[in-house]
Amino acid sequence: MDLQMLTDALKTLEQGAMNQLKQVQNEAELEQWRVAYLGKKSAVSTLSRQVGSLGDSERPLAGERINKTRQALQEALATAKGTLEESLLLRRLETQRVDITLPGRRHPRGAIHPISRIIHEIEEVFLGMGYTIAEGPEVELDAFNFEKLNIPKDHPARDMQDTFYLTDNLLMRTHTSPMQVRTMEKMAGASPVKVIVPGRVYRRDEDDATHSHAFHQIEGLAVDKGIRMSDLKGTLEEFAVAVFGPQQAVRLRPSFFPFTEPSAEVDLRCIACGGSGCRMCKETGWIEILGAGMVHPHVLDGVGYDSRIFSGFAFGMGVERIALLKYGIEDIRMLYQNDLRLLEQFERIF
Ligand code: DAH
Repeated sequence: MDLQMLTDALKTLEQGAMNQLKQVQNEAELEQWRVAYLGKKSAVSTLSRQVGSLGDSERPLAGERINKTRQALQEALATAKGTLEESLLLRRLETQRVDITLPGRRHPRGAIHPISRIIHEIEEVFLGMGYTIAEGPEVELDAFNFEKLNIPKDHPARDMQDTFYLTDNLLMRTHTSPMQVRTMEKMAGASPVKVIVPGRVYRRDEDDATHSHAFHQIEGLAVDKGIRMSDLKGTLEEFAVAVFGPQQAVRLRPSFFPFTEPSAEVDLRCIACGGSGCRMCKETGWIEILGAGMVHPHVLDGVGYDSRIFSGFAFGMGVERIALLKYGIEDIRMLYQNDLRLLEQFERIF
């Protein structure tokens, strides 16, 4: 072997390698190529071992050419590697493409239940008028639920509010009115009282479109020197306008409750017809929404407020009734069924 033969062999080798490299499709094949043309057992290595057999004058030139070939192959390898990686990346981008036009995943939001919502709304109205909010026990003493509200044991008014008794003297409260007594006893006849009491109450009623054995009330109580029935009416008017709109009006009709004197049923001008008469208000133009009155002297004196000095008004409204009217729901039972089709219509308010 001489320099010319070596040069020719290198040339053929390089051409062959370059052609081969064009066929390479993936990294495994590229590695095979590297081992074949640049590895220890490659033709280039074999040739370089034969340089020693050449003459002194030819040896440096032979070494130089071998290095040049090796360098050319290494450069070609690096370029091919880059191209291969790039095309693999392109293919991955193509196959794993994210379709940004797909609709997003929905994260459903909770909503405030219409009963809680109307309670919060009514609380806001009365907070704005300087009332505080109190809550009382749902399991109540007969004394607070009835007797101190001027409803003695054999009083016929008890029949209207039959409930679930735990013992002779302990029952599920039939209304939020016992909190009138609890609040006034705590104040011990000293300072004026202005409080509203939202809460759950119980009755021995058959459930139907307008009745539930468990429902909610909001009690209101204002006691001070010189409180008059006109204060009651003004307060309820303010409430009606805030909850049902500026055109609202209320009407007081004489009624009876043992713990108020005088007592009244309070009507709201019909929100469906505006007062002209329709099916909803049974052609009367008015809808009953709550009971109210001036706190009975027996009740005041019984809790330590001297009825010759103090006077007050009280009212009690059914929360469900207000919610049904305000949200146009027809059956009270819908408020307890947790049907998402109803509940989803109420957005969060906080
Ligand atoms: N507690 C009565 C009921 O549940 C409603 C009521 C009437 C409350 C008159 C009052 C009131 O505070 O003054 O039927």
